[in-house]
Amino acid sequence: MKILEIFGSNGDSTLFVGERIQHLQKYIPGKKAIIITDINVKHFYEKEFPSYEVITIGTGEEIKTLDTARAIYKRLVELEADRSTFIIGIGGGIVCDIAGFVASTYLRGVKFGFVSTTLLSQVDASVGGKNGVNFEGYKNMVGVFNQPQFVICDPFLLHTLPQKEIRCGLAEIVKHAAIADANLFTFLEAHYQQAQSLDTDVIEKLVYDSVVIKSDIVNRDETEQGERRKLNFGHTFGHAIEKTTGVSHGEAISIGMVMASALSVKKEHLPVHDAQRIKHLLEKLGLPTTFETHRNNIIDAVHKDKKREGDRIHFVLLNGLGSAFVDNIPIKELTAAITYMS
Ligand code: GLY
Repeated sequence: MKILEIFGSNGDSTLFVGERIQHLQKYIPGKKAIIITDINVKHFYEKEFPSYEVITIGTGEEIKTLDTARAIYKRLVELEADRSTFIIGIGGGIVCDIAGFVASTYLRGVKFGFVSTTLLSQVDASVGGKNGVNFEGYKNMVGVFNQPQFVICDPFLLHTLPQKEIRCGLAEIVKHAAIADANLFTFLEAHYQQAQSLDTDVIEKLVYDSVVIKSDIVNRDETEQGERRKLNFGHTFGHAIEKTTGVSHGEAISIGMVMASALSVKKEHLPVHDAQRIKHLLEKLGLPTTFETHRNNIIDAVHKDKKREGDRIHFVLLNGLGSAFVDNIPIKELTAAITYMS
């Protein structure tokens, strides 16, 4: 097991990479705790849960809403949860986002921790203290920055994931390598098959290296005023694709990274060879690299991006493999790019 720390403004977060769900009990402070999980995770792992009340939610991005949060608040009241109650989210990105949001707002905030059960949430969603829900079709529109007290990344929980889920997590690992670690990128190129088959040593290295990159960035910029924006590489185009085509987050980010790399080449920051390496690696990992919808739908969604500031948007470009920077780009330059890329 390897341990990392995030030093948040509301408290620190300890990340246990390689820890097992069976040891969860020892990380729970106090006597009162309530578990929030989803129906899939409950089905596979309920027998490993410590014996606390369990609140079970559904699955899928469409349940990441204030209505689901409301149902959980109601259940917390019924269970007489008070300020000493510790909330444990056991699940992937959706469970962790909602559990973190509910814990941060119920009774003005109770302490919480996560057992992260998908590759995507282990390398990204559960780490870094972003907790929120979607609102009126806008992703993560309502939420808070608040660090979980701990995150347990148990590699053995990944073995019940469908291949598509694994691919989506690998997309976020490619993102981390592309923005911050050329050696990790080269390692992935050499070990993409072992990564897909969840070879324990390879997966633990990939998760650990990703969490090192993410925690390092979050420690320098918890609330995304600058440096943390780099973690959005591929996400401006990716969110637009996710919203308009309904492909999964990881698949959309894969396409978004290819488009952001192409724009980096066009703006003469990135050698074309590096952009090709990114595209080839994503293809080898079985991820999509082009979108299948009319480009006007993507253009429309980019115009509605919640992160735009006036007619510009902070956009992540690469100036080499393992090196990213943020540029404040006019929206019309992005929409022109969509036109020539499609
Ligand atoms: N997933 C991007 C971030 O946590 O900032």
